[in-house]
Amino acid sequence: MRFHLLFLSFIFVLQGAEKITYSKIAPILRSSCVKCHGPKKKKGKIRLDSPAEIRKSVMRKGIIVPGDPNDSPLYSTTVLPDGDEDKMPSEGKALSKAKTTLLFKWIKQGAIMNDGKPLIRKAGGTAKAPKLDAKVKKSFNDENIVITYYGHYGYGFILRYVEPHNFSKAYKKIAPYKDEIWHLDLSRQRLTGEIIKDLQTYPMLNRLDLRSCSISVNDLLKLNKLKWLNLYDARVSGDMNKLLKGLSNVEKIYLPSNHIGGQMNGLRNNYSNVAN
Ligand code: HEC
Repeated sequence: MRFHLLFLSFIFVLQGAEKITYSKIAPILRSSCVKCHGPKKKKGKIRLDSPAEIRKSVMRKGIIVPGDPNDSPLYSTTVLPDGDEDKMPSEGKALSKAKTTLLFKWIKQGAIMNDGKPLIRKAGGTAKAPKLDAKVKKSFNDENIVITYYGHYGYGFILRYVEPHNFSKAYKKIAPYKDEIWHLDLSRQRLTGEIIKDLQTYPMLNRLDLRSCSISVNDLLKLNKLKWLNLYDARVSGDMNKLLKGLSNVEKIYLPSNHIGGQMNGLRNNYSNVAN
């Protein structure tokens, strides 16, 4: 009995000592990374100065894969050999073994914040969103909604609706998953002002596919958090220059093919984010 108690407390101590939360990680990032990845400089479009900024950088760049430190540049770049041009920090003293080990364990354990919750939610992982089990997936399929996980990053899923006549019903069906949706394909659907307004409330929405939709520049400008936008074959009314200036966060945009004339060429020269 005594042995068991001792043994149990030994395990407890071991596990207790092993648990790494964000509070152990923040000082490392602050002292060695934030100089280049913070509010002043944002090298590689990555910020590491707060949980919210780290989360955004994960969405943008996939710098953390929870559970898989070796596939997470936030850790893997810090353990490259000295002299490697991708080594982080790119200047100054390399992180000590103790610090890289903390980063390793933190990501391995799922990048847990101080409140015990993971930094990055897994797809289907919010308390609010119903579980996406096989039955639910089948019911989506029945509505012609295709769900594709971004499992590697773990941020939600693609909902792709393919039958135009049932759009509003399908749109209602995806609403409970709003917090998880990272990419949404609404191509060929009839968009309304109400839908544009609603899309503004999707916190994770990063990529929007509006191929063959009709939409105005003014409505598109309301979605200025997007990083990726596909307007191929869309009918867009309004000034494309104004659109590209206004969508300042977009890293890649596909313009309608009817703009491939002179205007498109001009735009392509002026804006590096315009894709072919
Ligand atoms: C002296 C400036 C500097 C410091 C300090 C620095 N970085 Fe960087 N970091 C850079 C630059 C510059 C890039 C962009 C390289 C590029 O875009 O080619 C970068 C890119 C990255 C990337 C993206 C790599 C990829 O695979 O895309 C990660 C992750 C990263 N840094 C992590 C860190 C971490 C973690 C620290 C602290 C331990 C750190 N950096 C400290 C300058 C710095």
